[in-house]
Amino acid sequence: MFKIALLPGDGVGPEVIREAVKCLDVVGKRFSLELRFQAALVGGAAVEATGRPLPPDTLELCRQSDAVLFGAVGGQKYDGLPRELRPERAILDLRQELGLYANLRPARLFLPLIAASTLKEEVVRGIDLLVVRELTGGIYFGKPRGIEPIEGGERAVDTLIYTTAEIERIAKVAFQAAQRRRRKVTSVDKANVLASSELWRRVVNGVARAFPEVALEHMYVDNCAMQLVRDPRQFDVILTENMFGDILSDEAAMLVGSIGMLPSASIGAKVGIYEPIHGSAPDLAGKDKANPIAAILSGAMMLRHTFGQEEAAEAMEEAVANALERGYRTPDIQSPGTTLVGTTQMGDLIASELSEG
Ligand code: NAD
Ligand code: IPM
Ligand code: MN
Repeated sequence: MFKIALLPGDGVGPEVIREAVKCLDVVGKRFSLELRFQAALVGGAAVEATGRPLPPDTLELCRQSDAVLFGAVGGQKYDGLPRELRPERAILDLRQELGLYANLRPARLFLPLIAASTLKEEVVRGIDLLVVRELTGGIYFGKPRGIEPIEGGERAVDTLIYTTAEIERIAKVAFQAAQRRRRKVTSVDKANVLASSELWRRVVNGVARAFPEVALEHMYVDNCAMQLVRDPRQFDVILTENMFGDILSDEAAMLVGSIGMLPSASIGAKVGIYEPIHGSAPDLAGKDKANPIAAILSGAMMLRHTFGQEEAAEAMEEAVANALERGYRTPDIQSPGTTLVGTTQMGDLIASELSEG
């Protein structure tokens, strides 16, 4: 039996998680997996109900589960709250509390979506890259942080810290992933300016010695942002720190059609979190317009990484590919000659591909 904590959250979070569960239910039946779901409050929804973005009961449920399927958190309504009460705090605390230092964000082009990218077909054809983002360190968590009054105004500080141990463990994840792929790691940093990047580069070079069959290159983050749109197929595994990885993965999502397509796995300890990389998309919430594929593919990553069910994971990915092949599209990936569907219908279509498969 696999215990899954469901944290739908805010905005389109609940809408896309509903479709992911729909598909997981079908794949569970097909492969005789006993998937047991239990839902809990998180983000703005939890602030409304309990005054806190990550209630202790929710954290406890996650700890007691095998994996967490997370939607999205946040919304304009909460942007004025003190930082520790903002919905986004919930996902940051969850990652830290569960010890999930490694975030895998794969960007692969589904061929039927070649026309959905804003880039030329010959640039995006065959994109298959993996962003390995450090997730529990760097400027997201460093102290001191905060805003204080000074004469004539205020002073704000964030701190970017990395230790050898933090860099080593994430670098290993990247090299191991590259061993199973095209054996190339591009480590992305800002070593020409930042001390933390200087250490990052040195430690990554050290880890690389244990992986002689993997080619390592270093790239500055500004250049990487440019290379991603110039020639994205040069990348296999992109290894990078927390904030750079956040930014570059949204860019990578657009290369393969839409941010609504990119799943993620946050791993490194007992309980993994699986979530689409997109946010609560307040502009789409309640309109049946959000693309549920990122959430559905996150479910597939959960089957693969936490439950070791490679075949079931591949079946889900194939069902997504088939639905796209048949021409069904949510608005974000629509192109001429395709059939427009909503969130729910896309989920239904993928689920029915799965049950037929
Ligand atoms: P966003 O990812 O929510 O939306 C950015 C753009 O992408 C919007 O135009 C949106 O309509 C579109 N988009 C997002 N998901 C989509 C989907 N599934 N299908 C189709 N289009 C989709 O980012 P934002 O607007 O910068 O942030 C909105 C809120 O979400 C903020 O409160 C932010 O802090 C939060 N956020 C949360 C997470 C998370 O929970 N993991 C991630 C990113 C942002
Ligand atoms: C993401 C999100 C989060 C991040 C926010 C909501 C804290 O943007 O998962 O990409 O920055 O990690
Ligand atoms: Mn992000």
